[in-house]
Amino acid sequence: MNSEIKTIGVLTSGGDAPGMNAAIRAVTRTAITHGYAVKGIRRGYHGLLKEEIEELHSNSVSDIIHRGGTVLGTARSKSMMTPEGQDRAAYILKKHGIDCLVAIGGDGSLKGAESIMKRGIPVIGIPATIDMDVACTEYTIGFDTAVNTALDALDKIRDTSASHERVSIIEVMGRGAGYIALWVGLAGGAEDVLCTETYDGNEQVIIDHIIENRALGKRHHMIVNAEIIGHSDELAKRIESVTGIETRATILGYLQRGGSPTCRDRVAASIFGEMAVELIDQGEVNKVVVLQNSLPVGVDISVVNASKQVMEEAEYLNPRRLVRT
Ligand code: F6P
Repeated sequence: MNSEIKTIGVLTSGGDAPGMNAAIRAVTRTAITHGYAVKGIRRGYHGLLKEEIEELHSNSVSDIIHRGGTVLGTARSKSMMTPEGQDRAAYILKKHGIDCLVAIGGDGSLKGAESIMKRGIPVIGIPATIDMDVACTEYTIGFDTAVNTALDALDKIRDTSASHERVSIIEVMGRGAGYIALWVGLAGGAEDVLCTETYDGNEQVIIDHIIENRALGKRHHMIVNAEIIGHSDELAKRIESVTGIETRATILGYLQRGGSPTCRDRVAASIFGEMAVELIDQGEVNKVVVLQNSLPVGVDISVVNASKQVMEEAEYLNPRRLVRT
């Protein structure tokens, strides 16, 4: 046990991600086993600033490993982006006797945690976002569930698209990065994937591809569009007016964030959560638990926050190469 830490606080923040509950459970139970008290903070940093804090026991996290969302609730806090909000957050943590904070969330949540670290309270970050856009890690909790949800939708849309011989645009989430679009496009055999990492904005190339495929007898044309590229309904109208082929857009939206986490997400969250407490125990605080070479390790939170997530070359695989034309 780390003699300087008696109570660990845990919160989830930013967009929810399937598997957050499994992470809360792992943090809570590992901490209790190691002799720490655990306090759960509701509604992320927003709730912290409002002192929505309660003690968690082993049975507080019973029956949640399979549930989507986060039992602690989450929020995006504007106040936490200001020095005054950050001062208050640190003050409230001290007031409630929280000696170390475990923050579960994406890049914004990890930045919030770093600001608390700078005010003298040790922190540990756990990367959880469906976008998989946290630097220094090969995985973020929630991605696997989200891509499988989106893939299931794409497979279903393909059936109706082929029956009607339409072009279909499936808009997926990924404000920060195109991982969901690329993975779903590749796994779903989409004809085109539009995400900032690979798309140069040249619509004519897509239109030529659609016309070419139609001439070859293809009955559908699936385009996976990352939300950052632009409005899918408008794109559908433009494609239909130029090609004369019926084009429909489906925006998957928030259904990608919900649902029961996959086995991979539950396992990753459990490993990350346990590792977070192990790091605290060893005095290795102010780190983010990341996956590197398939192993969980701690990397300084300031390094993670100062780095930019770079898509590996292999992930730029152009799904078009794999689609019969
Ligand atoms: O959690 C990340 C993310 O899902 C992005 O892909 C998306 O743009 C964003 O959250 C939307 O979240 P909200 O509308 O809840 O702020």
